[in-house]
Formats: sequence, C-alpha cells, structure tokens
Amino acid sequence: MPKKKIMPVSGQDSRIDHFFSLPGTRTDNWRSLHATARKWTRDPQLQSDVMSAFEALGPNERFFAYPGHKLIATLRDRIESGQADSAVSLVQRISESILDRTYKEDPGDWMTAEAAAEAPPEINTTTLARGQSHRPYFETLFVAPGAATRADHIIDQIRRLRRPEDPFIYEAVVVGSFEEAICAVLLNPAVSAVTLYEGFDLETKGSVPALRQFLTSAGLDAEHLSEDDLPLSLAGAIKKIRPEVDIYLLSDRHVERVAGDPRASDFRRVLYSVEELLELHLCILEGVSDRFRTPFFDNLKKYAMRPISTFHALPIARGKSVFKSDWIRDMGEFYGLNIFLAESSATTGGLDSLLEPTGNIKEAQEMAARAFGADHVFFVTNGTSTSNKMVHQALVAPGDIVLLDRNCHKSHHYGLVLAGGQPLYIEAFPMTEYSMYGAVPLSSIKNALLDLKAEGRLDRVKMVDLTNCTFDGHIYNTRRVMEECLAIKPDLIFLWDEAWFGFARWSPFLRQRTAMGAAEAIETWMKDPASVEEYEKQQKKLGKNPKAAKLLETRLIPDPRQIRLRVYQTNSTHKSMSSLRQGSMLLVRDVDFGEVEAQFHEAVFTHASTSPNQQLIASLDVARRQMELEGYGLVANAIEIALDIRNEINSHPLISKYFRVLGADEMVPAEYRTSGFTDFLDEGISWTDQVRSMHEDEFCLDPTRMTLVCGTAGFDGTQFKKLLAEEFDIQLNKTSRNSVLLQSNINNTRSDVAQLVRVLLQICQNLEKDLARGGENARATFEARVKSLMEDVPNLPDFSHFHDAFRWDAGKKTWEGDMRSAFFSAYYPEGCEYVPLDSPEVDKRLKNGPEMISANFVIPYPPGFPIMVPGQVISKETIDFMRKLDVTEIHGFELAKGLKLIRPDHASEHVRK
Ligand SMILES: Cc1ncc(COP(=O)(O)O)c(C=O)c1O
Repeated sequence: MPKKKIMPVSGQDSRIDHFFSLPGTRTDNWRSLHATARKWTRDPQLQSDVMSAFEALGPNERFFAYPGHKLIATLRDRIESGQADSAVSLVQRISESILDRTYKEDPGDWMTAEAAAEAPPEINTTTLARGQSHRPYFETLFVAPGAATRADHIIDQIRRLRRPEDPFIYEAVVVGSFEEAICAVLLNPAVSAVTLYEGFDLETKGSVPALRQFLTSAGLDAEHLSEDDLPLSLAGAIKKIRPEVDIYLLSDRHVERVAGDPRASDFRRVLYSVEELLELHLCILEGVSDRFRTPFFDNLKKYAMRPISTFHALPIARGKSVFKSDWIRDMGEFYGLNIFLAESSATTGGLDSLLEPTGNIKEAQEMAARAFGADHVFFVTNGTSTSNKMVHQALVAPGDIVLLDRNCHKSHHYGLVLAGGQPLYIEAFPMTEYSMYGAVPLSSIKNALLDLKAEGRLDRVKMVDLTNCTFDGHIYNTRRVMEECLAIKPDLIFLWDEAWFGFARWSPFLRQRTAMGAAEAIETWMKDPASVEEYEKQQKKLGKNPKAAKLLETRLIPDPRQIRLRVYQTNSTHKSMSSLRQGSMLLVRDVDFGEVEAQFHEAVFTHASTSPNQQLIASLDVARRQMELEGYGLVANAIEIALDIRNEINSHPLISKYFRVLGADEMVPAEYRTSGFTDFLDEGISWTDQVRSMHEDEFCLDPTRMTLVCGTAGFDGTQFKKLLAEEFDIQLNKTSRNSVLLQSNINNTRSDVAQLVRVLLQICQNLEKDLARGGENARATFEARVKSLMEDVPNLPDFSHFHDAFRWDAGKKTWEGDMRSAFFSAYYPEGCEYVPLDSPEVDKRLKNGPEMISANFVIPYPPGFPIMVPGQVISKETIDFMRKLDVTEIHGFELAKGLKLIRPDHASEHVRK
C-alpha cells in the first residue's frame, strides 16, 4: 500500500481529508520521527532532519493530554542538545504509547524512562490506574485565561483529586482561547467534558492549526462573536459540534445571573470558582457516568448472576439444556455461558417489558432519545423493516396519501399495503449508466403537492416518506425539504428512513443533514421572531394566489406560526453502530405525539414479537452508550478510512486503470450541486466548499458509501462481489450491473484499507497478465465485455400508473393508488392470470390491450427496487427492462409461470372504498 502522506498542519491546510485523518496522521508523524531519530543514532548529520520531523508534529500536540508539554519539552531539549540515544528512546516510548494507547493505563508512560524507574510506588493512586481493574479513560478540556502559565498547575490539581474509588480516569488538556477550545474539541475525540474558566481569550496568538477556515465558515470567528459572553458562545459552539459533551462553567462573578440566562442550558453545571475543586471533579465523573450507565444492560448483567429457577418456556435460559447435553454442548462452548444466563422470557425481577416498558427499558429509551436528539425513542428488535411498518400503521389511515420514493426499501411498500395508505410514487433521479437511482428531487415533491392542492386533495396527504441517505449515499437537504413542504402543507408528517445513517448524529459534518438535526434547526428557527418577518416578506413578494411555476422556482418559507413539526426517523442501529443484528430504533420528534401515542402502542403490539430478544435490547442500550462516549472519534475514523480508500484507489497507477470510486460529482448531477462542490479530494476543494455544499446543495454524498465501478475491469457487480468474498474474504453489500458498494463504518481500521488495496492490486495484476497472455483475442473479448457492462445498460423504467380500478377519486395529474385492494385481489385465483414474459401475448397486450395489471410486487436484486407494484399497469419500458435483466433473483416473479396479473374484468371486484 502506498505510504500515507505526512501532512503539515498549518493555517493554509484546509483539505477535507486533512481534518478527518488527523488522528491517523498524528501516529504516522510520531512513527516517522522515530524512524528518522533511529537513523540519527548512526549518522550524526541527521540532527536537523530529526528536528524537522519533530516540528512536523505541529502545534496540534497541545490539544492532547498525552504526551503533554513536559515530555515534549524534554524531547526538544534532547534533540537540540544532540543526545541522539536518549531522544530515540523517548520518541519510541511516546510513539508506542500513542499507538497502543497504553498511556491510558500506565503511569510510567507519562514520564521519561529514567523518572519512571525512580518513581515512588504510590504513583499509581495519584496518576493512572495500573494494577487496578480497568477504568475507562477520557480527557477533560480546561479553557482558562493564561493557560500557558497555569496549565501545569491545573493538570496537577486534577491529578491530585483522583481517588481509587473513581469509576473513570481522566487527564486535563489546558488551552487559553475560544479558537483553541474549538480545535481541541474537533481534533481530540477523547475529550468528554469541558470546563470553562471565565476570562479566556477569543483568538489565539500565533497559528491556529488547520481549522481557522473552518471556524470562519461556521461563523465562529471574531467577526461573529462578542467578547462579552464568550463562555456562552463557546458552550453553544461546542454543543453544535459535539452535543454529547458535558460543559461546566467556573465563574467568579454572579453565578446565579449566568445560570439564569436561557443559553446557560448548555452548561451541565455552573460553579462558583472559589468553591472546592473536588465538586467539579465529582460533577465531571457524574456527567460521564450518566452516559456510561446502560439501565437495561446493567440490570441484565445482574439478573444473569442471580441463581434463578425458571418454570417458564425458554429451556435454553440458564444453559442447562445446552451444557448438560452430549449433542449440543459445542453451542454452549462457542457462545459462552453468559448468553444463556442472560436469556429470559421474564419481564419482571429486574427486567422490563419491551411492549409496555415502565422500568429500565423505558429509561434506556429515554437515554437514547437524549443521545439521538429525539423526544421519544422506541427500541425495535425486528429491524428497521419493522420500525417502518410501525410508523405507517401508527400514522397512516386507509385512504391517506403518502408521497413515497419508489426506490425505497420494501418495508415502506408493504407498510402501506398493511395500513391501506395510498402511495403517490415520486421518482428519484436515475443514474442509468450504473443501473441505480439517486434521490427524489425537491422539485418533484413540490410538484406533486401543488398538483394535489390544485385538484383539491391536499387534505388527504398525510406523509412524505424518504430514504436518507439512500443505499448509495445520497443525502437529502432534510431541512430544506421539510421547510418547503411545510410551506405548502403545514401539518405534513415526515418519515425519514435513516436505516444506514444512524451514525451521522455523531458527525458535526453530517448531523445537520439528519432528520433530527434538521428538526432541531427548524424548531430553533420557529422560535426566532425574525422568522415571521422572513415569511411575511416572502408572502408579499409572491403576491396573492401565486402560480405553481412561481412556487416551484422559489425557495419557500413556511409560516412559523402554522407549522406542526412532526418528524420521525427510523434507523438500523445494527447497520452502523454496535448493536446486534435486527437492533433498530424509531425516533420521534412530533409536537402532536400525544395525540398519536396510543396508535403507536397499537403498532408496537401489532408488529413486535411478544418474545423480544434480551440481548438485542441490551445491545441497543450499549450502542447508545458507545456513541455518546466515543462515537465522535469512531465516526471521524470511518470517514477517514473512506477518504483513504477513495484516495488510494483513484490515485493508484494500476488500480485506477481498471477500477474507480465514483466521486460526489458523478453521484450527484451538477443541477443538485449548485455550490459548485465537486469531490472530497479534488484539487482546490477546501473546508469552506464542503461546509457550503452541506449547507446549500440539494444532495450531498455520504463519504462512507463508496460506489466502486468494476464493469471497467470486466466484472458485473454480482460476479465481483462473489470473487471478493470467495477468494479474498472481503465482504461487501450491494451490487449493480457494473458496480459494487463499499461501506466503511466504526469497525474499520487502516489495515482493512491496506487489505482492500492489496487485493484490488492483485486482481489488476492478474488481469494484466491474462490480457498479455491471451493476446489480441483476449483483449477484444475483454473490451467487448467492458463495453457491454458499461454501455449496454437498460433504461430504468419509471413508475407507470395504477389501474383505474384502484384509483378512487384520483385526479388527472396525480397518480396515487389503492395498492392494498390490488394486493389482496391477488388472493383470489379466479381473478388472476399468468402471462409468460417472453410470450407474444405480452407484446400484443402492450399494443392493443387489455392492459396488464401487476398482481404483486416484482423486485429484482440488483437493483432491489420494485419494478412493479400491485395494481400497477405494466408499461413497455418495464417489460423491456425485465427482458434485459440478467439477474437470477427476482422476488415476486416465477419464470416458469410468467407475470402474475390481475384480470382487468375482475379488477374492481375487491376494491373497498
Ligand atoms: C433504506 C432501508 N430501510 C430499511 C431497511 C431494513 O432494515 P433492517 O435490515 O434493519 O430490517 C433497509 C435494509 O437494507 C434499507 O436499506
């Protein structure tokens, strides 16, 4: 794998990956210093090279507690005074400790080897915790005036407060200004708490690493901030970046007055600074304990340890039927005892009921709501497939119209069949060359709403249901979509399927584009008196009864006094966080939730198993804990890995000849990228461009979802996926005709990147060898295959329309339909018929009728969206697409029987209006 670049972190350094890859770069820089210093021991000429490598560590080291400025100063001293051997030993000690993270547990790592050898034994109680059971480690940022001179004192004071009974260990990082504080919070994922002393500076003297441009673009610079209320501004800014972090204010003035300011809700506690520092220490520990606590999991562990006799079903509980068996004991040995001890069908005795939670599940859900920025959370143990159906059932009544992306997950289509809602399918923009869809343009959504309005049926529209981000990574401008839709119908409900995007909450970069992030922003906007003025100004400009065309071209502002903000999000916690498979959450931020709560309980009773799995619930609880305590760093790492993969593949001389990861500009057409943003790593693209794109563009690309084009190497998606899995043990997710989807997540490491790049290189080398060996013929065959995969791609068929029999009072312009009646029509064999796909009858009926009406969903994998839904009139485009399909897995279609159709003369028989 080509060596990762060592990046100088300077004021001009604003490339997007430079920020995300900072932790990785930090270890690389230390390793590089170590390598240079080792050479120096053999070649005295290299002293200046060592000094340059030392300087390359950059000013960022001050944002991390370890190694701390004392060790850094000692190291500088050793290098400057030419002590090569002792410099090498210190660099080695520090870089190994950073890499292996042993400094979190070993007090010796915080000293030179010489000092550690002489340290008194009681050092363990005043510094770290070697010899004691593992205590999680974090860092607390102190923002204090005169940091340069006070830092040592603060660090020492904090260490002295440490007690063996503390549940966690933390070290202090001390900075002196607003700017440095923001940098520390952005760059150091270990920061879990922040303490502000009044009187710190706004700006930093000297250079601010990497991020001044970022601060300016986020409005966090001198021009936008006032010196008077810096602590409040800083607290607000930190919460925007990392809402989970606890912030404390130490004030020597009128603490009561500060505490009474509405913005002071960002502080967990305001303390009078002359008070005992121990109070602060205890607050900090309590704040972290509050996130660490996992009410359900903690109780489940206790439950598992109790001697319990079970007389209920579930013989596997306690493991006796397993461990005593001659025949299935290996299962016990494989999983270990605890999983059986923790299995139970009880809902009492320390456990709780998922269907009607009143105890620790309720509490765990409330903690998840806090973490995810929702008002309520439901834990779901049957995947987001079930969460989506629950939302549909709870909110949609038969006959309600739901605006739906046809390319959405099948749980939405089935959810509407069950609820009786009528889908009005809106098309996502097609990416025909890759046989996939993008996302639904806002203009299409507005168009549909305005048509419904024109036809007098807006009152029947209940919900807009979209997938954010899509399987392939298209992220909506969630705020804009909701605002513009609410400007047309102020009580619309939004369901954002964020099955793949739950992790985005922990990225300041992505959070604004999540359902909950946008809902929060809209709520804040609604409270601002200027918003009413903004609305009224636009109304005046639009005039009375503006034409639809005018409304379409205007960025509509809703009336903040009329909006009922009703936002739902579902996420497959198991897809992007540490939850066991099928762990999902349903998030609610709905001002009218009180009115539908009972319906939600009914939906839970309908869809949730009465035997929910305890381990799944526990893993949802634990996934929340992890994200609140280390999610920020993990997500930043997942993004770094993705940017690395993009970079390595697209810039490798041989790999890029056959493969490439599509850039944002290829995934999102220019008309939806009006900011001009092209791709994350394009020359000249900076933080400012990225921030602007996230703010303005209609669609952005989730960097962690990478479409790797493999058709150019002669592989179709399915074939390539199989090759990677069977020959190289690399698993991936989705495929299209000529691409596969790679996804990085919180689990990946840089070794995974190395392995992927190595494998792709090997495949390319084999390909080159085969082509060279096979001569002209082989090359011609290869080129024909590539051409077929990349150019001979079937057009994606748009949704046609529902048959008239399934369109109640449908107007002329909109095409919603009663899919539920059509679905159940198929249950009556006498009303159905089969027509073989390739038969001439199909072509005859396409030409002369009678119309062919699909009796069921037909979903080919790939691409995985329904090309037919029940009640849909089958068009020539759909037949052409189906005939060209070369996939074997087509749900809802049996080749031997042919297309299952509803006979037109029977179509209206089972429709109940
Ligand atoms: C967009 C989307 N929503 C929902 C689901 C269903 O999620 P789960 O697998 O958790 O049931 C999927 C599954 O792939 C999906 O892609």
